[in-house]
Amino acid sequence: MDVVTALGGLRARVAGWRREGLRVGFVPTMGNLHAGHVSLVELARAHADRVIASVFVNPTQFGPGEDFARYPRTPDDDVAALRDAGCDLAWLPSVDAMYPLGIEAAVRIRVPGITDVLEGARRPGHFDGVATVVARLLNQVQPDLAVFGRKDYQQLAVIRHLVADLAFPVEIRDAPTRREPDGLAMSSRNQYLAPGERALAPRLHQALEAMRDEVLSGTPFDTVEQGARDRLAGAGYDVDYATVRAPDLGEPAADGPWIALVAARLGRTRLIDNLAFSRA
Ligand code: PAJ
Repeated sequence: MDVVTALGGLRARVAGWRREGLRVGFVPTMGNLHAGHVSLVELARAHADRVIASVFVNPTQFGPGEDFARYPRTPDDDVAALRDAGCDLAWLPSVDAMYPLGIEAAVRIRVPGITDVLEGARRPGHFDGVATVVARLLNQVQPDLAVFGRKDYQQLAVIRHLVADLAFPVEIRDAPTRREPDGLAMSSRNQYLAPGERALAPRLHQALEAMRDEVLSGTPFDTVEQGARDRLAGAGYDVDYATVRAPDLGEPAADGPWIALVAARLGRTRLIDNLAFSRA
């Protein structure tokens, strides 16, 4: 596996593969890789001849007071994990390589509408930063296929909107959420949890399952949402939202399909998760 930190090197490698007619798959990450990330690399592997993964902790998607400074950075472990996962190239740009004119002068991309609700409402500017860096990454790598996790459901919707509207010639594939045996969605942020918090963390997924069961048994959405908020607050969570939506994040239809989404803080750690469901 090649480890590349300069754009020229990345471009030369990808150009060589293209000359050979190979299909290039891409998995963007912020590193501190876990089995969820590895599953994305495996999905890319299954649908492409060569796989590139990026590791870049993107400063423009963190708000003031968020965890940019303490976000776990483990590049050596990440490179080893990518090698083990069968990745062909690790793209590890510096902040200067990603934002060559500096962050103040950087061209920004804003996806309207969908970024105003849920995560976007709680984290102003977050999705502008995501769209800005994903557009840069897609332009740098120029993959045929890029893979994103459903764990970050709204991010996936933002990226699909970005790619469709700017006509990036790339296929976007989504991957299921990898979970710990107790149901907690794998996340680089889980390691912030103190042991007592870690023990409570599976309640988030349990709340989503309860929301699903209640919607399927005909409970009104308001009651379902209030029940989830109360259950989580009772377990010590500070709840940002617990909501049932349509798959496009609009108002839910009476007969589905639906997606339940939750964001809540346990101590200093903010966790998000979601569960899609419909009548069988
Ligand atoms: P990061 O949080 O590192 O996630 C990288 C990719 O892994 C995303 O597509 C995310 O949805 C996926 N992922 C995270 N946890 C997962 C899990 N438990 N199971 C399956 N997939 C999972 O998301 C980002 O980085 C950044 O916003 C990025 C898109 C790289 C832009 O900076």
